[in-house]
Amino acid sequence: MALQSRHLLGLEGVSAEDITLILDTARSFREVLDRPIKKVPPLQGKTIVNLFFESSTRTRISFELAERRLSADVVNFAASGSSVSKGETLKDTARNIEAMRIDMVVIRHASSGAPHFLSRVVKANVINAGDGQHEHPTQALLDMMTLREKYGALKGLRVCIVGDILHSRVARSNIYGLKTMGAEVSVCGPATLIPRHMEELGVRVYHRLEDIIPRVDVLNVLRIQLERQKSGLFPSLREYHRYFGVTKERVEKAPQPITIMHPGPINRDVELSADLADGEHSVILEQVTNGVAIRMAILYLLGTAQSSERS
Ligand code: CP
Repeated sequence: MALQSRHLLGLEGVSAEDITLILDTARSFREVLDRPIKKVPPLQGKTIVNLFFESSTRTRISFELAERRLSADVVNFAASGSSVSKGETLKDTARNIEAMRIDMVVIRHASSGAPHFLSRVVKANVINAGDGQHEHPTQALLDMMTLREKYGALKGLRVCIVGDILHSRVARSNIYGLKTMGAEVSVCGPATLIPRHMEELGVRVYHRLEDIIPRVDVLNVLRIQLERQKSGLFPSLREYHRYFGVTKERVEKAPQPITIMHPGPINRDVELSADLADGEHSVILEQVTNGVAIRMAILYLLGTAQSSERS
């Protein structure tokens, strides 16, 4: 079985069959992660470069772990300390990647579309690790894996994404992926942080947590980007927490059990209360563990398809 594309640039347009293949493959790699010896050989001889032009903890570490678990040779690149600080362009960086015969590129970039650009100028497989406000496909896949492991299936699952939807690549990828897999998706946040025409994506919009909490199985709480306050999109963190903070008190009023997710990093007691983040409703650390398995699955599916294409 092979994916329909040789890159993973986003989840928009990715079929349910491809998403299912990635989730099924990740499940078998999750078992590898629980073994005493966690290394397997499929990417032996492949070279992967991690190009991180923006800061990251979870995504960068879990891609590197996934690559090493699959026995690939790994090169890490961070914009700070590289020739980017001397003005080198992404196109020139790409040409150098090509000259060094790199097989796969993982890229995080502040500009939406940077991975798409790279995929047009290099022969390597390109994986989007988050581009601007556009997409973060591996985050959405690990979110879907976590939910499928917990609920058995995604079809009919009621998921609400809470917070800054407007600027969120996590929200966009989750909406595309979850809708394709048949989940019921809603968003909740201040009107200033919800894009217009959300309903055209088949997503219901709420502006009060009290209206959505009784109707969902899952709240996926997004980090409030503190810099947004300066642009006047919400008055203060205290005000944001008062109206949109997901707290134990609010969640425990619901008659049904609710699962709490967060992509990280968390602003504790702003968008999500610390007791809830660490409590029994939370699957946040499960998401992080599944992140390694999902990234192993994508690297494996793209990297081994590349070998058979060449042979
Ligand atoms: N969820 C996520 O993308 O986290 P990092 O920015 O730490 O990679």
